[in-house]
Amino acid sequence: MSTANDCGACPVAEMGRRAFLRNAALAAAATMAAIGLAPGSAFAEAVRAVTPLSAAGAGGTDRVYRIPSADSVSIDRGNDVILVRWQGVAYAFSLKCPHRGTRLEWHADESRVFCPKHKARFRPDGAHDSGRRTRNLDRYAIRREGATLVVALDRVYRADADAAAWTGATVSVD
Ligand code: FES
Repeated sequence: MSTANDCGACPVAEMGRRAFLRNAALAAAATMAAIGLAPGSAFAEAVRAVTPLSAAGAGGTDRVYRIPSADSVSIDRGNDVILVRWQGVAYAFSLKCPHRGTRLEWHADESRVFCPKHKARFRPDGAHDSGRRTRNLDRYAIRREGATLVVALDRVYRADADAAAWTGATVSVD
């Protein structure tokens, strides 16, 4: 005979469980939308360290990286570069905060680039998101060559000084 405590498989309990799971999924989707991410677009892994495959360019100022195979954030501390692949697009940012030059971090739990000095946050495409008011992350010129990304360290664009160049400093990696 069933009691109030062993009703885990009864129809009423099953309906309640389904409603709970549905509501939890909706809440998760709402949270993702609130922070500017489509459901399923969160980064699969934490930040990783990267070093260039080689240097190139006329003055040796280009850095060549392997194209990341999935959405990810890689940091090249030796060259102060943040390399991001996000939703089919690659970006290369300066690792220095556009406000006062503090070295930036990646916070995987919120999918944001974070400045530990004054708490500015930036989206994976470099747009300023919250915290200390400053400009977007500075972007390096980037191009695709075969299975590699080439980042020109001598060409860095500020969103507030050259919006067209900043907007164009992306490359498709789909
Ligand atoms: S130095 Fe990064 S927000 Fe001030």
